[in-house]
Amino acid sequence: MSKIDRMSQALLASWGQKGECAEQVPLLKRNDQRSMLLHTMMYTACVLVLCLASACAIIYIMDREPSGVKHSVNVCNDPCSVVLLESIPEGLHYPAPSPEHNSIFQTWLELLGSAKTSLDVASFYWTLRDSDLGLNFTSAWQINGNICIGLMHPAKHQGKQVFDKFLSLPSKGVAIQIATDGSKNSRKRSKKDVQDLENKGATVRAVDFDKLTTGVLHTKMWVVDLKHIYVGSANMDWRSLTQVKELGVVLYNCSCLARDVQKVFLEYWWLGQPGATIPKPWPEKFSTNINQENPLHVNLNGTPSTLFFTSSPHQLCPSGRTEDLTAIVTTINNANEFVYIAVMDYVAASLYGAHHKFWPMIDDALRHAALDRNVEVKLLTSCWPHTNLASFFFLQSLQALDGIFGHAHINTKFFITPASKEQQKIPYARVNHNKYMVTDKAAYIGTSNWSKDYFTNTAGVALVINQTASLGQGLTVQEQMRAVFLRDWNSPFTVAPSTLADLQRVCRHP
Ligand SMILES: *[C@@H]1O[C@H](CO)[C@@H](O)[C@H](O)[C@H]1NC(C)=O
Ligand SMILES: *[C@@H]1O[C@H](CO)[C@@H](O)[C@H](O)[C@H]1NC(C)=O
Ligand SMILES: *[C@@H]1O[C@H](CO)[C@@H](O)[C@H](O)[C@H]1NC(C)=O
Ligand SMILES: *[C@@H]1O[C@H](CO)[C@@H](O)[C@H](O)[C@H]1NC(C)=O
Repeated sequence: MSKIDRMSQALLASWGQKGECAEQVPLLKRNDQRSMLLHTMMYTACVLVLCLASACAIIYIMDREPSGVKHSVNVCNDPCSVVLLESIPEGLHYPAPSPEHNSIFQTWLELLGSAKTSLDVASFYWTLRDSDLGLNFTSAWQINGNICIGLMHPAKHQGKQVFDKFLSLPSKGVAIQIATDGSKNSRKRSKKDVQDLENKGATVRAVDFDKLTTGVLHTKMWVVDLKHIYVGSANMDWRSLTQVKELGVVLYNCSCLARDVQKVFLEYWWLGQPGATIPKPWPEKFSTNINQENPLHVNLNGTPSTLFFTSSPHQLCPSGRTEDLTAIVTTINNANEFVYIAVMDYVAASLYGAHHKFWPMIDDALRHAALDRNVEVKLLTSCWPHTNLASFFFLQSLQALDGIFGHAHINTKFFITPASKEQQKIPYARVNHNKYMVTDKAAYIGTSNWSKDYFTNTAGVALVINQTASLGQGLTVQEQMRAVFLRDWNSPFTVAPSTLADLQRVCRHP
């Protein structure tokens, strides 16, 4: 029996005796009553002493409890490790030497291989095989390209491998729960994969974010055995493994964070029930005490680090959860030396409503950083045939401040993923899809484009890591992400067009 158990038993026993005495009081004589009073006083004193002792014991135990929650600091003793992941599209080769990272494809396969009990996946849509490519597309490839995009095309092979692994898990006793976007479009796209997953025993819930927030479920994250976490830009799409440039991270053996991340998954799971509405407030079980003000302290790859997980939009932030936008603005505001951002789209306005409303939350923070604090700002966005041309104007507007007052450093560029004639035919591919930021203080890995809608209507998440210094065990995540950013920024695949016509031309914009 623990110290606390013994004390609480003693406490209970003393209360019990007191209760018995109290019941007998009316039946007792006068001097009995006097002695009763004495007794009661004695008991009260005893109880006070015991209370004090047990309070001391609790404080003592909490102080020693290795993984327990201390007063205001979240300490986690799990042996967490983190690995930065990328999908580098086929045919995209950087001049050597350049940083290379584990592939999302290999890591997904390994994670699926290691799953023993549970797998929770939050996803936008599912097209891991090429079920979304119509027959016409297949034949077009065979006629013009002389390469078969049908069942044997190597580009989709990885997606199929991952999908087959998913299908094999339920029979091995792994409970798969999948939350996907429930809009008509996403349902249609995902139909074939979802049907096959369900037939094999996975539970799938389509969350109607169109109805709930007039947005989509854009989150991409996994929680494996409540222990390992994946988060990043890659969709459950074969293109994300070989045709689209992606960035993500995997955290291994990190139950304390996995339990926290799973709470966000469980929000989607809850909202995937028929007729569900967003609870206001969210029940207590969804709230967290791991956030920007109070991050998780953990040794990541042996290096002291702090972590927290964000969510957007506001309606999906139960008590204690830091909003994604808040984390982005704070990370920019905290930077002292540099802010490097790589996002697919950057638009300081709303995009999907009837009117485009100006939305300077992030834009202001970037201008303040460059002008007021002399922080070097670099913004790299993506350029492909579907690029929203509003990006061009907002990038130009930031770039216009470069050199102002003789000190501001603020530069913008577009990244173009090279594509052969054959690759250009793959719909919605060959693009830099990653969404991250790295500063001298923190690394931010997210799932959202940077425009208003993504923070007010669309469900997304991000992981913020502050890894102060490397203890001689290789580069920190921040250092690795900085190197990845500079590799891309200085690569032959970036452009800084000065006119809209130039941008349209180089991005093959129709
Ligand atoms: C294929 O193309 C033909 C002619 O362009 C069109 O009528 C047909 O609907 C297309 N089929 C599919 C599966 O997209
Ligand atoms: C996770 O922990 C297990 C058991 O302690 C260990 O065997 C494994 O190597 C760890 N995984 C990683 C990636 O560190
Ligand atoms: C944002 O990202 C998604 C995919 O992550 C993409 O399909 C979409 O076109 C992007 N751009 C805008 C402006 O929403
Ligand atoms: C990062 O962590 C260090 C050490 O724990 C702390 O001093 C610093 O304030 C943190 N920085 C941010 C931006 O949270």
